[in-house]
Amino acid sequence: MLLSYAAFIDKRGGLRHIYRMSFIRDDALLIPLPCSFDLSLTTFSTQGCVMKIAILYASREGQTASIAARITELFEAAGHYQCDCLDLEHLPEDFSLDHYQTVVMGCSIHYGHFAPVFRHFVAAHTERLNAMPTAFFSVSLVARKPGKDTPETNVYTRKFLEKTAWQPSYCAAFAGAVKYDLYRWWDRLMVQLIMAMGKGETGRHAHVEYTDWDAVARFVQQVRTDVLQERS
Ligand SMILES: Cc1cc2nc3c(=O)[nH]c(=O)nc-3n(C[C@H](O)[C@H](O)[C@H](O)COP(=O)(O)O)c2cc1C
Repeated sequence: MLLSYAAFIDKRGGLRHIYRMSFIRDDALLIPLPCSFDLSLTTFSTQGCVMKIAILYASREGQTASIAARITELFEAAGHYQCDCLDLEHLPEDFSLDHYQTVVMGCSIHYGHFAPVFRHFVAAHTERLNAMPTAFFSVSLVARKPGKDTPETNVYTRKFLEKTAWQPSYCAAFAGAVKYDLYRWWDRLMVQLIMAMGKGETGRHAHVEYTDWDAVARFVQQVRTDVLQERS
């Protein structure tokens, strides 16, 4: 597949419409893109256009970081995406959303709350985030239960989305992991208590990953097709 872009400019030089043109065999597909789509950030390679994606995460025990790394791999394996996978706690000094066409953000839940660094970032950049295609995934233990693993049915994700002015183009709620050996003793007790109530793993040294990696792959696929309107 060959990708190229067409921009229609009015007499005053204002941008009216942007289309992505996909040439597949003998067919040319014209796909309208939002005018917020920043063509100046598109780089060109022998494979066609390369879209820059920021994958930003907040993670305490590493599971959200692993999911973000997998999302990065899956986008890059598709060939025409270049991703920067960055920990919100350690953003480079020169970091700017203006360097990216798309942002994927992920954050885990601790004691019912998303990490402050994530909430502050979203609050500080809401306007910019709403002007570009974005996706969001939450990570929690409650999402390991069927019926609590969608943005609508996962209580943390639903409440966050109700409160924030950010309107991600696509959302998902992934199950995280228990890693008792990494926790402080009172955190371990609390998680054991929560897990015991939900008939989950409580073993003193248990390390169990509940993340459904197929769901992570489906998330990337949905962002590619529904948000970025990619056609293969
Ligand atoms: C101290 C502590 C509190 C937690 N509180 C919750 C909670 O309130 N609800 C929930 O569903 N999961 C809770 N979790 C589970 C985490 O969301 C889960 O372990 C997740 O994988 C952590 O992701 P991270 O490693 O990226 O930080 C808690 C975990 C810890 C260690």
